[in-house]
Amino acid sequence: MKIIKTENYDHMSRIAANYIAAQITLKPDSVLGLATGSSPIGIYKELIRRYQAKDLDFSNVTSINLDEYRGLSPENEQSYRYFMDTNLFSHINIQKNRTFIPNGLEPDPQKACADYDQILEDCGGIDLQLLGLGNNGHIGFNEPADYYEKGTHCVNLTQSTIDANSRFFDSMDQVPRQAYTMGIQSIMKARKILLIISGGKKAEIVKEAFFGPITPKVPASVLQLHNDVTIVADSDALSLLS
Ligand code: F6R
Repeated sequence: MKIIKTENYDHMSRIAANYIAAQITLKPDSVLGLATGSSPIGIYKELIRRYQAKDLDFSNVTSINLDEYRGLSPENEQSYRYFMDTNLFSHINIQKNRTFIPNGLEPDPQKACADYDQILEDCGGIDLQLLGLGNNGHIGFNEPADYYEKGTHCVNLTQSTIDANSRFFDSMDQVPRQAYTMGIQSIMKARKILLIISGGKKAEIVKEAFFGPITPKVPASVLQLHNDVTIVADSDALSLLS
C-alpha cells in the first residue's frame, strides 16, 4: 500500500487525476470504477480540464460506478447518475452507453444486483477503481457489518451514512435509507485501487482502516490485502499517522 501525502484537497485532486490520466493514456480502453461524493469532485474537474486541453481522450473508456440510491431516478438531482452526468460525463467524450451505474429504479433488489454483476463480468473487470472513504470506514456503500458481502447487494444505510449524506438533501426525510452497491469482492478484484481522502474528520478512520485489524466492522480495512492500492490523501486526513 502506497500512501501519497498532499498539501490539501486541490493538490490531492491533481495528483489523483495524474493516476487516472496515466491509466487512460496507457490503456485507452480502460474500465474505470468511479465514485461519487465530495472527495472526487476536484478530480473530475481536473479530468474535464485535461480533456478540454486535448490531453485526454475518453472515447474508448468504460466506467462502472460503485453505487446508487435505491428508488432515485436518473433525473433526481440527488441520484448518483445525475451526479456523474453533471460532474463528469456530460463534459467529456465518454460514450454514454459505456457508463454504468446500478439501476436505482429497479424495484427488485435481486434483479438490480444480478444485472449489475453481469455488467461487471461483461466488462472484463475493473482496471482502476477510484474510492472515497466513509466516516465509518465504508467503501462504496459496504457498511460496517459482521461479514463482507461479495457481489452487488442492496444495503440498509447506517445512521452515520444517512447523517453524512443529509448535507445534500433538503430534509432528513428525503435521504434514501437503502442503496445498491458493488460488493467487496468486486472492489477487491479491481487490478488497481486509488483511494482519495481529505480532511481532518477522516483522520481517525484512516488510522483504524489501514493500520488496525482487517475486519468487516471497518470495511476499508480489507484493502490492506490488495496488492496494488495507492492512497492519495491530504495532510489533515493523515494527521494521526506518525
Ligand atoms: C460514493 C461512495 C462512498 C463515498 C464515501 C465518502 O460513491 O461510494 O463510499 O466515497 O461516502 O464520501 P465523501 O467523498 O463525500 O466524503
